[in-house]
Amino acid sequence: MGGFVTTSPHCLRTRGVLLDRDGRVFARLPDVDLAPGRIVALTGTSGAGKTTALLALAGIRPPREGSIQVGDTDLWSLPPSGRDRLRGQRIGLVFQSFHLIDAVSVEENLRLAASCAGLRAEPGHLQTLLETLDIVAIRHRRADRLSQGQAQRVAVARALVNRPALVLADEPTSALDDGNARALLDLLARVVREQGAGLLIATHDRRALDAVDASLAMEAAG
Ligand SMILES: Nc1ncnc2c1ncn2[C@@H]1O[C@H](COP(=O)(O)OP(=O)(O)OP(=O)(O)O)[C@@H](O)[C@H]1O
Ligand SMILES: [Mg+2]
Repeated sequence: MGGFVTTSPHCLRTRGVLLDRDGRVFARLPDVDLAPGRIVALTGTSGAGKTTALLALAGIRPPREGSIQVGDTDLWSLPPSGRDRLRGQRIGLVFQSFHLIDAVSVEENLRLAASCAGLRAEPGHLQTLLETLDIVAIRHRRADRLSQGQAQRVAVARALVNRPALVLADEPTSALDDGNARALLDLLARVVREQGAGLLIATHDRRALDAVDASLAMEAAG
């Protein structure tokens, strides 16, 4: 399975992205130039389109207009199978509603994220993620038996297991107390710097906004 070689100075570059729902354009994503090792927040009130924007950036749901480049690759000109492969191998996603696989363990959720992308979860890296996110003790617990905060930390670990070049996180601290929110943001920031990944966080959380390099606000359109 071929890799995605990148010579672009950006992990993520967008131009003129317009988002629609029910056939109507309702939001514009400010142009993003996200360099490796940088963290950008995407802000906006509830319903402004942050999650819809992340779905477009992840290659899950197309924008109405505009271009989205992940590394050197124009995401939406790939065939669906290529987009799935790029997402699996290069993009780490933390969904607002987690989307863990309920019937299997925490550790199995992480391993499946690797095998679904045609990769293998590297044991040392897996252990580091479990330890740093404080989920070692629950590694064998089924995902449907976790608290919201535990599930959120597992979702973050899963997003990082394939050492992605781009991490997209949707409200990754919403279910966490201050201590765990701080630990999670520190971990994300560290991984971004160590791996030279870019991180885009959709958030209202002041604790997250304190940790970012820059902040972009969703704009209304239409
Ligand atoms: N599955 C869907 N089908 C139709 N409309 C949707 C769907 N999901 C979201 N929307 C609409 O799209 C708009 C943007 O929603 P979105 O979830 O992107 O906002 P958000 O900024 O992420 O909000 P929040 O801060 O509450 O998570 C809203 O008007 C919402 O009602
Ligand atoms: Mg949202």
